[in-house]
Amino acid sequence: MLTGRHLIEPGNFTLDEMDRLFKLAEQIEEDPAYLRDSCRGKVLATLFFEPSTRTRLSFEAAMLRLGGSCLGFAEPGSSSVAKGESLADTIRTVSCYADAIVMRNPKEGAALLASRYAEIPVINAGDGGHHHPTQTLTDLLTIRQLRGDIGNLTVGFCGDLKFGRTVHSLAKALSCYPHIRMVFISPPELKVPAYIKTGILEKEGIEYRETDTLEKVIGDLDVLYMTRVQRERFFNEEDYIRLKDSYILNREKMEPARKTMIILHPLPRVNEIALEVDQDPRASYFKQAKYGMYIRMALLASILGVPDGAALYMQK
Ligand code: NCD
Repeated sequence: MLTGRHLIEPGNFTLDEMDRLFKLAEQIEEDPAYLRDSCRGKVLATLFFEPSTRTRLSFEAAMLRLGGSCLGFAEPGSSSVAKGESLADTIRTVSCYADAIVMRNPKEGAALLASRYAEIPVINAGDGGHHHPTQTLTDLLTIRQLRGDIGNLTVGFCGDLKFGRTVHSLAKALSCYPHIRMVFISPPELKVPAYIKTGILEKEGIEYRETDTLEKVIGDLDVLYMTRVQRERFFNEEDYIRLKDSYILNREKMEPARKTMIILHPLPRVNEIALEVDQDPRASYFKQAKYGMYIRMALLASILGVPDGAALYMQK
């Protein structure tokens, strides 16, 4: 049962619990009216201390489509945080007004801290360069939909693997699925952190390699996960400017790629995928954004307590 649970990082939910969410999201995609009123009377607080388009709007769209309501802020300057209020006090207060909190914050660990002070479920919508578990649910649902299954895949992560929280969360989650191989493609300065390699991949016995050249490995991949260089997490602008265009996926670079490879990107894209690639049938990032809403509907309905009919469906 996911009712009343927090989601701070991948690993908080079991594979079986995630599988039920994917099935529920697929049911919602098939029949958008399914669960339509399951959150009637419930209130979702979206507290965004960092910019967002897809994550915040897909959560709000999800809640509205489930019959619930939303409140919150997209601009911390408009909340009492600007007056110096602590996160703990903000969370305690919001717990009085809402039934669940979705929070994005630039500090690693902020969501975990919030969950300690909240009396309602907290969903991490990104904590600094650490984790982003609902993007991972979105990515996994997309892989499942487009590849039929999550398993026996070579997944390439390309771009800013140091600061990219979506990469950290997806690599962690994928390490629990069978026969996954990972290829990390980045400039040396933006390599995936050691805690992911030694603390997760090596512990789980995951086969992985690192390279700085996309062209060398693109032909081996089943999934190519492109990412933006995370400007806001750099200490100086010069480094950002030097590294920002390290990889630009274009038609020519796609030539050696498999016909069945899918291209994912959590978005926003800046320069790392040329617009011409959007016409390629393997470009799946806008589908991915849509799956983000279905999986968040499934997640909110489950965390806030699904009605009996859906619960029965989920037990199947
Ligand atoms: C990502 C994020 O916020 O980490 N975006 C998203 O939620 N879809 C990726 C990014 O900002 O580069």
